[in-house]
Amino acid sequence: MTGFAPLLSIRNLSIRFGAGSRWSCPVDGVSLDIAPGEVLALVGESGSGKSITALSMTGLLPEGTSEVAADVMTFDGVSLLGDTLRGQALRGREIAYIFQDPLGSLNPVVRVGRQIEEAVRLHAPGTIPREEAYGLLRRVGLEPAEQIARAYPHELSGGMQQRVMMAMALAGKPRLLIADEPTTALDVTVQAKVMSLLGSLQQDLGMAILLITHNLGLAAGFAGRIAVMYAGRIVEAGPVEDVLTAPRHPYTQALLQAVPRLGDGRRRREGIPGRVPHPSCYPSGCRFHPRCSRATQQCHDQTPPLQTFGAGHHGTCHHPVEHAHA
Ligand SMILES: Nc1ncnc2c1ncn2[C@@H]1O[C@H](COP(=O)(O)OP(=O)(O)O)[C@@H](O)[C@H]1O
Ligand SMILES: [Mg+2]
Repeated sequence: MTGFAPLLSIRNLSIRFGAGSRWSCPVDGVSLDIAPGEVLALVGESGSGKSITALSMTGLLPEGTSEVAADVMTFDGVSLLGDTLRGQALRGREIAYIFQDPLGSLNPVVRVGRQIEEAVRLHAPGTIPREEAYGLLRRVGLEPAEQIARAYPHELSGGMQQRVMMAMALAGKPRLLIADEPTTALDVTVQAKVMSLLGSLQQDLGMAILLITHNLGLAAGFAGRIAVMYAGRIVEAGPVEDVLTAPRHPYTQALLQAVPRLGDGRRRREGIPGRVPHPSCYPSGCRFHPRCSRATQQCHDQTPPLQTFGAGHHGTCHHPVEHAHA
């Protein structure tokens, strides 16, 4: 953590879904901080609870069938728990969310310019919506803005649609942008451009970004810190260089080994054997133990406590990986 007071602070978050007597708890005991202007990547295989963790910050989880509890959940010191008016105001404007599937999030029968203007009316009252919308389109590299504004979503490419989503997210000048698998639906060259745009927006506007991705390689080139999530818990977190060069949790190490590298050619790198468990049957002790080559009886029996591996680098493992120069 830097010396700044955190912008977002979460302690012991749990998320439950259900109805009647049937409840599951896909996320429990998650704690994380995001400093103003920092880029934190939340990584882990699909189904580990990354999206619902982020959605819980924005109040976008389904009402009635979900329950969010935490010891602390604050944005700039204001609680995001419950339905306080101030908390609601923060969500959507100061905390913006862009989703993996831009086409699914845009209204297919409304021109994109109008959709951005709506976001401006909602989040930036007192400005001229059309002018703002054109400015936002230019900001995300969509020009000529006047022409793009007249397009319907399906007339734009996937990369352009994702830029439109970014323009809408930027309407409220957010201090935290949650980018949830923002490039997963795009092809590789477009992916790189969208990531580079996100990077320059972050630099220019000074916003913090929570990048959610199953791709540790993407996180490596972008984030300052990485938090690794497995089966609803954060198993390791730390500065990007520490986590990448000296991963201490065997799950982080396995994720790293699964990242394709330049020069691999057509040879496929091995994925991690087994699957992320469903929340209804999370294993006892360390939830990664059934897939872990280092697991012992202790890992089966006891939840590993949080331990510190280095400055700002911590995790939960009974038998952390050793590194000669760590
Ligand atoms: N609305 C919901 N109702 C019940 N379970 C859900 C709901 N949304 C997500 N889940 C469960 O929460 C778990 C984590 O999902 P998610 O956060 O989407 O994972 P990730 O983003 O890491 O791929 C999954 O097992 C999923 O089944
Ligand atoms: Mg997700």
